[in-house]
Amino acid sequence: MDKLVSSWYNDQSLPESYIFPPHERPGKLLVPRCNTVPVIDLSDTRTNLVHQILKASQEFGLFQVVNHGVPPNIMSETMSVFHKFFELPAEDKASLTVYTNDPKRCKLVTSTLDYDREKIHLWRDVLRHPCHPDCIEFWPRKPLRYREVVAACSIEAKKLGLEILELLCEGIGIEHGYFEHELTEDLLLGANHYPPCPDPSLTLGIPKHFDPDILTILLQEHISGLQVLKDGEWIGVRPIPNAFVVNIGYILQVISNNKLKGAEHRVVTNSSDHRISVVFCMNPAGNSNIEPAKSVVTATNPPLCRAFQFKEFLDNFYSMEGDADLALQPFKL
Ligand code: OGA
Ligand code: NI
Repeated sequence: MDKLVSSWYNDQSLPESYIFPPHERPGKLLVPRCNTVPVIDLSDTRTNLVHQILKASQEFGLFQVVNHGVPPNIMSETMSVFHKFFELPAEDKASLTVYTNDPKRCKLVTSTLDYDREKIHLWRDVLRHPCHPDCIEFWPRKPLRYREVVAACSIEAKKLGLEILELLCEGIGIEHGYFEHELTEDLLLGANHYPPCPDPSLTLGIPKHFDPDILTILLQEHISGLQVLKDGEWIGVRPIPNAFVVNIGYILQVISNNKLKGAEHRVVTNSSDHRISVVFCMNPAGNSNIEPAKSVVTATNPPLCRAFQFKEFLDNFYSMEGDADLALQPFKL
C-alpha cells in the first residue's frame, strides 16, 4: 500500500492519479428547495414513523434520524476517538496497514483495498473492521479508550438499525423480525478520514456508489461532504448535530424487490477542513441466502432476481470495481 493521503496532503498539489474524468467531478450543487433530505424524528408516533420512513426510503433511499435514543456522549466520544486515532503518529498505525486477508482483522488503507490496481485514487484514508465481539482483540489499542467507546457505539448503531428495519418491514409488508438474525449478522465499521484537499473540484472522497449491504448508519460532524443522487441531481446531506444518517443498502433494495430504493451517494472533499465520518454497515452473513422477500413478490410484481448467497454477490461486487448493478446481473431474472 502507498502512504496514507493524510501523511502528505499538505506537501504538494493534487497528483494526476487523483483527477477524475470531467463527468464524474463534483461540479456545482444546484438544489431545488423541495429536494432536501428528509429528517425523521424517531419520537413521533409509530404510524407516522412507518409512513415517513417508507416515503423517505422510496424517494431518496437516504434520510437522517433525530431523537433516536442513542446517548449524545456516545456519539461525541466516538468522533473524538477517531480524531485521536487518525492523529496518531505513523508508527502507531503501521501494524494496521500491513496487508492481511484475514476478515477478522483491522485494515487501514488509503483510497480502497484495490489501490495498486485502481485507475484513480480516492482522497481518503479508511479504517475498517468487523464489530463482532470475537474481533475486538484485533481492534486498535490506541487511543486508550478505542475499544470501550467503539464497542458501545456499535451496539447502539445495530440497535437503531434493527429498529429502522422493523419500521420498514411494517411499511412494505415483510414479516416482523425478518432482518433480525442472519441478514444483519455482520456489523462492519468503516471510519473515513478526508484530509483538506488542494483541489476539491477535480477529485472525490468516494465516487458514486451504492453500499453493498442492508442498511448503513452513518455518524458525521459539522463538516459537509456527503451527497445523495435524487432524480439525477446531487443533493448535500446537511450535517445536523446528534443526528445519524441512514441509507438503504443495495441488498435491501433487492430483498424489497425494488420497493425500497438503495441510495446512490458520493463524498466531495473541501480545501480547509479534515472530515471524519464513521459508517456502521449492517451486512448479511456470507453464506446467507438473499432473495426478494416472498411477501413482497406478487403476480404483478414478480421477483427481479433469483436467490443467491451474499458472498457470491460480494465477490462480483469487488471484481466489478464496486458496481452493484453489474454485481447483481448474473442473478437477474
Ligand atoms: C461510505 C460512505 C460517506 C461519508 O463509507 O460508504 O458512503 O460521508 N461514506 O463518508
Ligand atoms: Ni457509502
